[in-house]
Amino acid sequence: MNASVIFDPLTPGAYTDRQRVFESLRNDAPLYQVEVGGQQIRLLSRHADVARIINDPTTMMNPPGQDTPPTYGRGPAAVLWRNAISMMDPPRHTCSRRAISRPFTNRNIDQFRELIDDIVAVVLAETDFENTDVVHDVGLKIPMRVICRLLGIPTADWPQLQSWTKDFLHIFLPETASPEIVERTQQASRNFINYFAEMIDQRLENPCDDLTSEFTAAMNSADGLNKAGLIGALRGLLTAGFETTAATISAGFYAFATQPEQYQRLREQPELISGAIEELLRWETPVQVIIRYIGKDTILHGTVLPAGTQVWLLTGAANHDPRKYDQPSRVDVSREISEHFSFGGGRHFCLGAYLARLELKILLQQLVKQCKSVELRCDNIKRRENLQFPSIESLPAVLHRVY
Ligand code: HEM
Repeated sequence: MNASVIFDPLTPGAYTDRQRVFESLRNDAPLYQVEVGGQQIRLLSRHADVARIINDPTTMMNPPGQDTPPTYGRGPAAVLWRNAISMMDPPRHTCSRRAISRPFTNRNIDQFRELIDDIVAVVLAETDFENTDVVHDVGLKIPMRVICRLLGIPTADWPQLQSWTKDFLHIFLPETASPEIVERTQQASRNFINYFAEMIDQRLENPCDDLTSEFTAAMNSADGLNKAGLIGALRGLLTAGFETTAATISAGFYAFATQPEQYQRLREQPELISGAIEELLRWETPVQVIIRYIGKDTILHGTVLPAGTQVWLLTGAANHDPRKYDQPSRVDVSREISEHFSFGGGRHFCLGAYLARLELKILLQQLVKQCKSVELRCDNIKRRENLQFPSIESLPAVLHRVY
């Protein structure tokens, strides 16, 4: 089944030319087997296969009988892992997700529209259109300010939280982590635990008008979380909420500079913006690998995957599968998109999807009024060396003003 494809996710540069690698996996080895960190792993790259596994309610986040990867021992990373909603299985997942989901539903998200509108306006006003790095000046700032305001985190703490997040995000691929990365992940986890524990204590004494106070008020009740669970949930809302949205914004600017006709279409027909957001999400796929464990013996491409098999769903490959999308490497702002996996799928479908969509929509609505075209000031883009979250690190550009 592996045919002629040779792919080792741990080789430096394995993903440098990701789409070429993904193409050979999709065509020649749609059920690729590889050993990573001593474990046999199956990589799935076709849209139909990823759809089948991600939507299968029997798939699990953890291998049978385990709730933490042995890599993290009994350290703080293990504690955060166990209390991360994204890593839980039912029934804990169901209760924990319910405890924090109210503000983020489609019905409730509109209450944040005015706040986001103001934040986007301020960020664009602060940006030097003539000489900007859109990753730092726009991409990271908007989602960070939004999530900090919602959770009640002082913006002065942002640089610190951002640096912890960078180290922390390695946590989700424990099989690929070197001892040095494990240590940095442990330290970042320790910092997050202390930070949010103190914040919860403050809100218990002095509640205010933010989501942390709302969740703290429900702590230890039937509908709430315990303290360790709340720390895990707050950490999740913070780190899931800004890197991924920032990656989509940065990729959007890159797309508008390299396919300027698509940006012009948005300027002429702003009603295309909502669809364009789904297309940009598909095209970029900020989370490139989603891990699951097979829950019951499953036959795929004529092979039995026994229960407990670890599978990596290569969402970036599936979102560029030509069996599903015509000319997938192009951005087409009017493309009809039925199912992309940028927000995952199944019971772990992104809790912040409506918030992210609203942030992206408001940004594009304001941008098309102020900026007539995007010009890059760099020849190559550099991406972060993280298999799962390879976002653009820096994108110097000129934003040409409308007036
Ligand atoms: C464009 C922006 C975003 C992208 C691409 C994205 C992507 C994802 C993906 C792929 C998953 C599923 C992971 C898996 O199944 O293993 C996920 C889950 C999650 N996301 Fe997002 N996300 C984004 C924005 C946000 C925001 C703004 C928030 C914060 C409010 C957020 C909070 C979460 C949470 C809490 C989960 C875990 C849900 C669960 O396991 O039940 N995300 N996200």
